Amino acid sequence: MSEKVALITGITGQDGSYLAEHLLQKGYTVWGMKRRSSSFNTSRIDALFANDRQEGNPHFHYFYGDLTDASNIIRYIQEIQPDEIYNLAAMSHVKVSFDTPEYTGNADGLGTLRILEAVRMLGLTGKTKVYQASTSELFGLVQQVPQSEKTPFYPRSPYGVAKLYAYWITVNYREAYDMFACNGILFNHESPVRGETFVTRKITRAVANISLGMQKVLSLGNLDAKRDWGHAKDFVEAMYLMMQQDQPDDYVIATGKTTSIREFARRAFAEVGVHLDFVGNGANEKGVIAAIDRNRFEGMVGMRPDAIYTGQEVIQIDPFYYRPTEVSLLIGDASKARDILGWTPKHTLEDMITEMVENDIDLLKRNHHLMKSGFVVHNELEDIF
Ligand code: NAP
Ligand code: GDD
Repeated sequence: MSEKVALITGITGQDGSYLAEHLLQKGYTVWGMKRRSSSFNTSRIDALFANDRQEGNPHFHYFYGDLTDASNIIRYIQEIQPDEIYNLAAMSHVKVSFDTPEYTGNADGLGTLRILEAVRMLGLTGKTKVYQASTSELFGLVQQVPQSEKTPFYPRSPYGVAKLYAYWITVNYREAYDMFACNGILFNHESPVRGETFVTRKITRAVANISLGMQKVLSLGNLDAKRDWGHAKDFVEAMYLMMQQDQPDDYVIATGKTTSIREFARRAFAEVGVHLDFVGNGANEKGVIAAIDRNRFEGMVGMRPDAIYTGQEVIQIDPFYYRPTEVSLLIGDASKARDILGWTPKHTLEDMITEMVENDIDLLKRNHHLMKSGFVVHNELEDIF
């Protein structure tokens, strides 16, 4: 077992939670940086906390911090003396970055510099390795298909541009100060704990809601965009592998397959036996129920499909969700990661969609049960994104 100490920023996020579990299983002591929040936001890592009801994991610790606060970052890196830092924290929503461009640049761009600079200032360049959560959004308006480590970047959002700075400052610190600093250029990766405002989870939650009669229609933006979607569990393993190499380097992590938003929605509804037709074009396009496989619906949802009917419009377009500049096509070539890290994805998109839909149906049933008992479990205002 390892006796290494890892520091993960973004511990409350999707990847932070999976990576923490992965490293704890490998025997690491894990420190997570958590932002102060006015409401509970630790659901993904609750099982790791010790409290009055459970022992938690004795090798898991957290501290309050923020990527925009250099003194806090320096203090905790000094105290923790980590062997590995995984910088996963970010304002990670591409559309929101158009509304908060300056903050996004500060947290996602300069935040990375603050971590690298802290390691340098504290004299830890020979000890502490740094992983930077780079992204396929760097490719933006893609200059090559598929995209590899050699493909030129062309970011298309304040988020992408901030991450471009973070990518290059990581490369620069590696070259200038001989640090072990590497970029994982990860394509989209999802899971049952994916944030609810990203399109895959928005769709799988809506499938559950609509099946159980708790939502009529799902509003989406651009259905033509294509993404290379993998599973977050596979992708955090790639992060770990990059940090175990003798030499730091940058790697594309992707499945090599691309799927449109429309097709993802079609497959997610098909999970519960609801078959969609898409009619119309552009902002007038609609997803309409063409047929319902009653046996499958009852098997998956656990009740007769009374809440839905053939001919029902379940997807509509709302231009609110369009982005000022869009990334239309992402498909990655991860052959370098396969050859050097020995990494290949284990999950298929089909299995991941099944897992996500099943999870959202279970969650909704549990929450519905609690709500009927008088508990307030979910704030629907989060649907504004
Ligand atoms: P996520 O679920 O949105 O999690 C982001 C995390 O960053 C959360 O823990 C969030 O804390 C924290 N955070 C945000 N701003 C912060 C700040 N100023 N200071 C400290 N913490 C802050 O994102 P994810 O999907 O796990 O992605 C992890 C990283 O990989 C991100 O950097 C993302 O940009 C990048 N990435 C993701 C994908 C993907 O498809 N998932 C692909 C490529 C790259 P709160 O809980 O308090 O909000
Ligand atoms: N979020 C969202 N909501 N996206 C929608 C919607 C909608 O209602 N309708 C269509 N889309 C389209 C977006 O326009 C985009 O083309 C695509 O769905 C994917 O959007 P997101 O799921 O929000 O993810 P993203 O690709 O913009 O960004 C994610 O992946 C990046 C890696 O490529 C995030 O996780 C980023 O942090 C990450 O870097």
